[in-house]
Amino acid sequence: MAFARQACRTLPPDWTRAPPAAILAVRFAPTPPASRSPSPQMLKDHRLFFRQFVENFHTTGSLAPSSRWLAQALARYVPGEQPARKILEVGPGTGAVTRWIVPRLAAGDSFDLVELNESFVVHLRQLFEKDTHFAPARAQTRILHQPVEQLAPHGGYDAIVSGLPLNNFSGELVGQILGTLRGLLAPGGTLSFFEYVGVRPVKRSLAGREERARLTAIGHHLHGLLGAHEFHRECVLRNFPPAWVHHVRLSKS
Ligand SMILES: C[S@@+](CC[C@H](N)C(=O)[O-])C[C@H]1O[C@@H](n2cnc3c(N)ncnc32)[C@H](O)[C@@H]1O
Repeated sequence: MAFARQACRTLPPDWTRAPPAAILAVRFAPTPPASRSPSPQMLKDHRLFFRQFVENFHTTGSLAPSSRWLAQALARYVPGEQPARKILEVGPGTGAVTRWIVPRLAAGDSFDLVELNESFVVHLRQLFEKDTHFAPARAQTRILHQPVEQLAPHGGYDAIVSGLPLNNFSGELVGQILGTLRGLLAPGGTLSFFEYVGVRPVKRSLAGREERARLTAIGHHLHGLLGAHEFHRECVLRNFPPAWVHHVRLSKS
C-alpha cells in the first residue's frame, strides 16, 4: 500500500511522458464509509468474475471486479442537471460500477450497458430483474450483448463510463474503441475510464519488441485523447491493483 501510494503521488499513468497540460486536478478519491462484511451477492459476483478471468483473461482483464472506491470514482460525472440524459456503461462485467450509476439515474434518463461476455450479460439481466437495488431502473435500462466497437457512433450519450481493459488489446483495437467512444459522446459529454497504475510502463520495460510496439501504440492513442481532452484525473489506491481514473470531456463545437 505504501509503495502504491508513493507511485500514485509521483508518477503519471505513463511516467515516460509528461502528464497532459489540460489536467485541472489530480487528487485522491474520497473514501466512502468503512466496508461491511461481504454480502452473498458480492461473493457470487466475485466467483463469476474469477471464472471469467480464467476462461477469458484477455477481455476480462482483472481477477476481481472493481472496488467500491474505483467504482465510485468512475461514476463521478454521471450526475447532471439537464433532463433526459443518456448514459452508457461499457464492459459492466458483474455490475460493480453499475451499482453506483443506478442511484444517480433520474426518471427520464436512459441507461445502456454494452457487454461482450455472455455470462456477464445473463448475470446483469438477472440483477435488473430480481435485485432490489437494480430493479427500479429496469424500465430505463437496455443491456446490449455485443462488442462496443460495433455500436454506431451517434453522438448521443451525455456520459460514458468504461471498464474496458484497454492495455490487453492490440493498438489497432484501442484506436478503434477510443474512436467509437468519442463518436458516441454528445458534445460536452464526459467519458470516464481507468487503467491500473504503472502497468503499461512496467510491462513495456520487461517486454520483447512486438509487445513493446503494442504498448507504445496504446500509449499513443491514449495520449492523443488525454492530452487534448482530459479535465480531471484521480488515483484510487483502494483497489487491487490501484488505478488511475481519467475523466475526459469533448468540447462543444
Ligand atoms: C476489467 S472488466 C471490468 C468489469 C466491471 N466494469 C468492473 O469494473 O468490475 C472488463 C469488462 O469489459 C468487457 N469487455 C471486454 N471487451 C469488450 C468489448 N469489446 N465490448 C464490450 N465489453 C467488453 C469484459 O467482458 C468485462 O466485463
